[in-house]
Amino acid sequence: MLFDRYGRPFLKLRYVVNDECNYNCVFCHFEGQTRRQGVYLTAEDYGFVSTVFKSVGVTDFKITGGEPLLRRDIDLVVANIAKTGGVVTLTTNGFLLEKWAGRLSAAGLRRVNVSIHTVDPEKYSKITGTPPGFLRAVLRGLYEIKTRGVSVKINAVVLRDINTDRRSVKELVKLAASLDASLQFIELMPTGQGVQIFNQLYEPIETVAKIITELGGRPLGLRRELHNRPIYTLGGVAIELIKNYNNPAFCSGCTTMRLTSDGKLKTCIYAEPRVDLMPYIKARDVEGLLYAVKTALAQREPRFKLYSSS
Ligand code: 5AD
Repeated sequence: MLFDRYGRPFLKLRYVVNDECNYNCVFCHFEGQTRRQGVYLTAEDYGFVSTVFKSVGVTDFKITGGEPLLRRDIDLVVANIAKTGGVVTLTTNGFLLEKWAGRLSAAGLRRVNVSIHTVDPEKYSKITGTPPGFLRAVLRGLYEIKTRGVSVKINAVVLRDINTDRRSVKELVKLAASLDASLQFIELMPTGQGVQIFNQLYEPIETVAKIITELGGRPLGLRRELHNRPIYTLGGVAIELIKNYNNPAFCSGCTTMRLTSDGKLKTCIYAEPRVDLMPYIKARDVEGLLYAVKTALAQREPRFKLYSSS
């Protein structure tokens, strides 16, 4: 197992597998950095890097984008990572889930994280920049993948007057319950397009915590390794509440690094240091790759740059 200088083990890797997206969410933090089509790692490349990371103790692989389901070979990407024995999960807007459900399940996908901030179709379209009918397609996709044995987690970004009232919270919990899904509320982060709308749409996560308590939810504990998030249970649904990165405990238990779509290992989504792994991946150079990974790990800070410099 590998550790950074602050004793945090490196257990999880996030793969940004493409940059383009068919949505235009008002708060997008641009994990994929651009919307332009680039030259990405191949499905075989992901198999190779995952084997190497697995050999040094990484157990969980999260696929993200852009919108990962826009990749034509996304089932192969999943299959090649899953073959290493690692747990593979995927974050998606869900629009193409119905089409991919059977193949993703067969490829060994363990869980999907689908972003549904509201079950009101009009508000959904406004927040995500999508035409009418998209929410319905996402819901069909969710039931389809659930039926095939892949578990579901619903991500809802907390947005003032969109989902910060009792009824909206109740509806999201009900949706999660019907899918046997867990639910996570994410406080808005002032990053990417989130900067422009922050003053208008930011609402503290405590507002949601209060509603959950009023509705009869009970606290279950903290998940330290995941930004110290509190967990509640309500109506049979596990609910996780994620405060944004201004929370001093946000990075303290972090065990994750991320590989950008162009093969650079970043110590954190918000941090700048990055080490180019592409040459070692393309050359299938295990020693070189491990050396580069350790170089990146040595650059991890107790807090990511954006916060510590502000
Ligand atoms: N603040 C909080 N969450 C965000 N997401 C995207 N941008 C932001 C932001 N500025 C969410 C997506 C998805 C998850 C991966 O991150 O909606 O649910």
